[in-house]
Amino acid sequence: MSEFDQMNLSAGDKSVVLPVLHPTLGQSCVDIAKLPKETGCFTYDPGFGATASCKSAITYIDGNAGVLLYRGYPIEQLAEHSSFTEVAYLLMHGELPNAQQLAEFEGEVTHHTMMHEAFRTFLYGFRHDAHPMAMLTGMLGSLASFYHKDLNLEDQVQRRLAAIRLIAKVPTIAAACYRYSVGWPIRYPRNNLPFTDRFVHMMWEVPSEPLNLNPIVAKALDLLFILHADHEQNASTSTVRLVGSTGANPYVSVAAGVAALWGPAHGGANEAVLKMLAEIGRPDNVQSAIDRAKDKTSGFRLMGFGHRVYKNYDPRAALVRKMTHDVLGALKVSDPLLDVALKLEEAALKDDYFVERKLYPNVDFYSGIIYKALGIPVEMFTVMFAIARTAGWVSHWLEQQNDPEARIGRPRQIYTGSVRRDYVGIDGR
Ligand code: CMC
Repeated sequence: MSEFDQMNLSAGDKSVVLPVLHPTLGQSCVDIAKLPKETGCFTYDPGFGATASCKSAITYIDGNAGVLLYRGYPIEQLAEHSSFTEVAYLLMHGELPNAQQLAEFEGEVTHHTMMHEAFRTFLYGFRHDAHPMAMLTGMLGSLASFYHKDLNLEDQVQRRLAAIRLIAKVPTIAAACYRYSVGWPIRYPRNNLPFTDRFVHMMWEVPSEPLNLNPIVAKALDLLFILHADHEQNASTSTVRLVGSTGANPYVSVAAGVAALWGPAHGGANEAVLKMLAEIGRPDNVQSAIDRAKDKTSGFRLMGFGHRVYKNYDPRAALVRKMTHDVLGALKVSDPLLDVALKLEEAALKDDYFVERKLYPNVDFYSGIIYKALGIPVEMFTVMFAIARTAGWVSHWLEQQNDPEARIGRPRQIYTGSVRRDYVGIDGR
């Protein structure tokens, strides 16, 4: 072993030689698995900022250089040349499909777009003003009850079927949640259309008149689906893996991922960005928002800024920024919030606080403005993210099922509670 292949660590009178693992790209990693046994110590890493929880061949991020690769392919190239279904195939299978493989995959996904009719009962049980992320979480969990005969996770064919069903059904369920919230009849998927066009129809087609939408709508959504499809071990994907590590089925694992995605520090950020821009209201108010974000006592952060991994411009943000201009131009929408966003970005990128902490716009800074221009209500923004991320979640779940090193996820803790003490009866307290 060369010195780069191992790390020597001493703790008191004990020492241990730990192997250093070298990924195909990125930083080396010390394998600490034998640390507790050999030294009696384990490691503390709140938020897992310095801990790899698994080996994965799906997505690579270089946060300092602003690089994002799906299976080795740069996100910029996929955004320009690919489609969401091709990207979903790539994430799941590891290689780009040839024409026949893509046609077969699209055929499989298309075949599974319908919801079981009994799903409507669930849907109609929600309050009319239920948040669609709450509905999506519940409805995805309930999918396991419809497919329990196909939940032999030892069977590779059943595992793949569950993954396809999730990619296929999440848009149908998402659109149904939206239509329920606005009181429109649920639209069945039109399987003669490609994935994103089909979703567009399920969202906006009404029985009384033909749908006449600008093609930029499906184009923009397909781009956003590609950009949001995967992002290695983020909070929701790690949640899917943690739940999956227990042997739980993929439907509830993905439902848990949806719940994790909902938080404003994660997928809920695009909703939070739009609320923030609306609150700021005018470009003139941008400086006071920046000042408030720098003031730690204010409890206010610039939503859509900063990222656990990117310490450079999020490459996805640059692509969304361009698409925002294309969408507003094509739909002839003038949105004053875009002026606020542009001014905010410009001011933050010049401000020492944001420069020193390497806080750049992330993917969600502009995506909300596109969604708004497309007529998608704010509460649906994170649902759109979930449609895309389902491709990543199921790919990680499948990878985990095939990983011989995968174990149940079980973090340790530093106990800070009371030392041992004896029970005191209620009269003695
Ligand atoms: N506004 C103001 N200050 C910030 C922000 C922000 N948006 N983000 C981080 N900081 C400061 C933070 O206060 C800290 O300052 P100091 O060093 O003085 O204590 C420093 O920057 C480092 O922050 P951190 O909280 O240690 O960073 P983190 O890696 O734990 O958090 C984050 C990452 C994304 C949760 C955070 O940047 C944030 O809350 N951003 C706003 C929410 C957001 O846009 N989330 C979407 C993430 S991208 C979509 C996705 O992948 O889900």
